[in-house]
Amino acid sequence: MAETFVEIVDQLSDEDIADLVDSTETAIVDGGGFGWLKPPPQGVLERFWRGVLLVPERTLFIGRLDGRVAGSAQLIRPPKNNEAQAFAVSITTNFVAPWARGHGLARDLTVAVENEARNLGFRFLNLDVRDSQTAAIQLYESLGYERWGTNPNYATVGGKIISGGYYTKRLAARRGARRGQTAIDAPVKLTETTK
Ligand SMILES: CC(C)(COP(=O)(O)OP(=O)(O)OC[C@H]1O[C@@H](n2cnc3c(N)ncnc32)[C@H](O)[C@@H]1OP(=O)(O)O)[C@@H](O)C(=O)NCCC(=O)NCCS
Repeated sequence: MAETFVEIVDQLSDEDIADLVDSTETAIVDGGGFGWLKPPPQGVLERFWRGVLLVPERTLFIGRLDGRVAGSAQLIRPPKNNEAQAFAVSITTNFVAPWARGHGLARDLTVAVENEARNLGFRFLNLDVRDSQTAAIQLYESLGYERWGTNPNYATVGGKIISGGYYTKRLAARRGARRGQTAIDAPVKLTETTK
């Protein structure tokens, strides 16, 4: 059985970056590149992922299948000025390379993001997704995300306008959790293997 593993990273080895770039490219070509419609020129994706690691409001989760980086997700915290929405975070760039799908990795990534948000004291997790991403919609709805809105002009793909959905999930409070008090220094397994 393939082994899945999800961790929070604040740095990536050259090998992991190469795998993450490769997984991203294959997901883009397959039509699920979190906004990218075609693979960008060489070097852009590596700079993109290295840049993510530098953004204070972002936490990068990577998913491994049998040790290789095969997917990712990001938790985005509100900027400090946004006190009015300081209770909510969002999840973005949740994807798994086509060769690694069907092993529960996306579910593990999503649950890991939820757990981290809960540990940090946030109460809602928000996301949006193209309506053409039916596997992702099935995943989120199976995890209890509620659709609260639709944007009929959400994205354009191949010159065609595609609608998109906005989802939210209330995170049950975890006892003793206070915002800003979780620090993860070393890679840890954040979820149990679900398959
Ligand atoms: C959506 C995606 C992340 C799922 O990755 P995955 O690792 O194969 O998903 P999992 O194995 O964790 O499956 C979890 C659940 O997702 C749903 N799901 C996954 N693949 C599916 C498919 N092809 N059709 C329908 N539902 C699917 C199911 O509910 C599944 O639960 P089940 O196995 O109990 O039926 C992956 O297909 C992907 O990267 N797609 C393109 C990018 C994308 O759409 N990202 C979301 C943008 S917000």
